[in-house]
Amino acid sequence: MTTVIDGKVAAASVIAAVKGAAAGLEAETGVKTGLAVVIVGDDPASHAYVNSKSKMAKECGFNSIQHTLPAETTQETLAGLVASLNEDLSIHGILVQLPLPKHLDSDAIIQSIRPEKDVDGLHVVNAGKLATGDLETGLISCTPAGAMLLVRSIHGEDLSGLNAVVIGRSNLFGKPMAQLLLNANATVTTAHSRTKDLASVARGADILVAAVGRPEMVKVGWIKPGATVIDVGINRIDAPERGEGKSRLVGDVAYAQASEVAKAITPVPGGVGPMTIAMLMANTVIAAHRTAGRKPPKF
Ligand code: GUN
Repeated sequence: MTTVIDGKVAAASVIAAVKGAAAGLEAETGVKTGLAVVIVGDDPASHAYVNSKSKMAKECGFNSIQHTLPAETTQETLAGLVASLNEDLSIHGILVQLPLPKHLDSDAIIQSIRPEKDVDGLHVVNAGKLATGDLETGLISCTPAGAMLLVRSIHGEDLSGLNAVVIGRSNLFGKPMAQLLLNANATVTTAHSRTKDLASVARGADILVAAVGRPEMVKVGWIKPGATVIDVGINRIDAPERGEGKSRLVGDVAYAQASEVAKAITPVPGGVGPMTIAMLMANTVIAAHRTAGRKPPKF
């Protein structure tokens, strides 16, 4: 029987722990956890993501601030906002939603966020801590942290002897995911669009993580029978069978067939997706504890 890994249940348990930790911190120190989310421009998908992040922060009992800036915002204005949030003692986490409009230099903005407030885990200090095996003092990118929590729910903490293949090499996901798996003792391959015979590389995986951004690209023949499959893709495709103009969400894995050979698999939606926001809340409450000189909760 295939285990369908329920990201909604896992995310709800992270959120419950975050609420408890935030309430405890506030009761003991008077510090209310603060998250500032910044969005530039009017991409509807980005607005939907950001609104759910702000809403969840409120639900967690945080001081939740959202800055919505017009598409023509200048580099100086955005940098000025980040600089003021860096100084703001009521803010423990800063998230600048990506992608930014093309005229803006995203990397300069991300690197200007104080590492202690970089709840996306994208600052070189946080990326470097993860790369050198320091999982205790930095902040880890939310989607890989959430995907790793789902991997642990199947395999436990120690992945010794297991082959893991991550398809995708982005700074936001593929690289940190590979490092988390390596840190848990898996034997890790990072594959990508230039990999020769991707299918046979993928077939070597006991844990296959797909983050290619292409609907249902990973076919059943790419999956080793009994593997754990983590699907990070969220792709909207036309669904004329649901009526004219309708669409639906699919992952990067051809789920229906893949779920017949995998031992465990994440669905889309309802797998990795809900974990991203939950881990953002977790990172924010961790950052608030550190600022207050308290031992942060573990997730
Ligand atoms: N855009 C899509 N995913 C993310 C994310 O995890 N963080 C940020 N900042 N932007 C994103």
